[in-house]
Amino acid sequence: MGRVRVHQHVNPLSPYYRRSPEPIDIENVFADPERPLLLDIGSARGRFLLRMAEAEPAWNYIGVEIREPLVEEANRLAAEQGSTNLHYAFCNAMLWLDRLLDGIPPGVLQSVTIQFPDPWFKKRHAKRRMVNQEMVDTIAEHLAPTGRVFVQTDIEFLAEEMFALFRADERFAEFSTDANPFPVKTEREKAVEDKDLPVYRTMFLVQG
Ligand SMILES: C[S@@+](CC[C@H](N)C(=O)[O-])C[C@H]1O[C@@H](n2cnc3c(N)ncnc32)[C@H](O)[C@@H]1O
Repeated sequence: MGRVRVHQHVNPLSPYYRRSPEPIDIENVFADPERPLLLDIGSARGRFLLRMAEAEPAWNYIGVEIREPLVEEANRLAAEQGSTNLHYAFCNAMLWLDRLLDGIPPGVLQSVTIQFPDPWFKKRHAKRRMVNQEMVDTIAEHLAPTGRVFVQTDIEFLAEEMFALFRADERFAEFSTDANPFPVKTEREKAVEDKDLPVYRTMFLVQG
């Protein structure tokens, strides 16, 4: 089966994407819900997690994506791969991440990745950007005390905007890194590196 065709962007503020998702029931979606959980926000076609689920099988993985057909395709690929530690959720993460994570027991969410989110370049579209104060709050509230957030993008102004939100929050401490700590690169990361463009990365740890 070919790759599903989708719009390049959807407007996260349109009525369709304002509807709230059901919280994820990790007891239902994972074979072993007690494993540490990695959440990838803006997972697109889900290839990063498909490969992570095989490379580091001791973890559980949730991908969150606003383009619904990509979520369906990624869940189909995960089932074909036989993964029991991987699930993708259709969710507008700039509005509803808190609702999606409601019910995930404390201490389970160990890692969050935000990788190459859409920049929405125009000033009048700034409100459509995925990483906002609510998202940072939600992550801080759900992340385990040993948790970490990895953020990367090739768009410098967006990197500064996202990093500033986490830096301003005293629940996080920055651990600067030029390297990607994961054994798998996202599709966008590979495309950017093929063009020899810079990538802006950093990591935030939960402040002890
Ligand atoms: C440029 S792509 C990068 C995808 C992938 N992380 C990578 O690095 O290859 C950004 C992804 O974030 C998704 N996205 C943008 N806004 C979102 C939102 N509010 N909630 C969930 N996903 C969103 C887009 O649909 C798109 O799939």
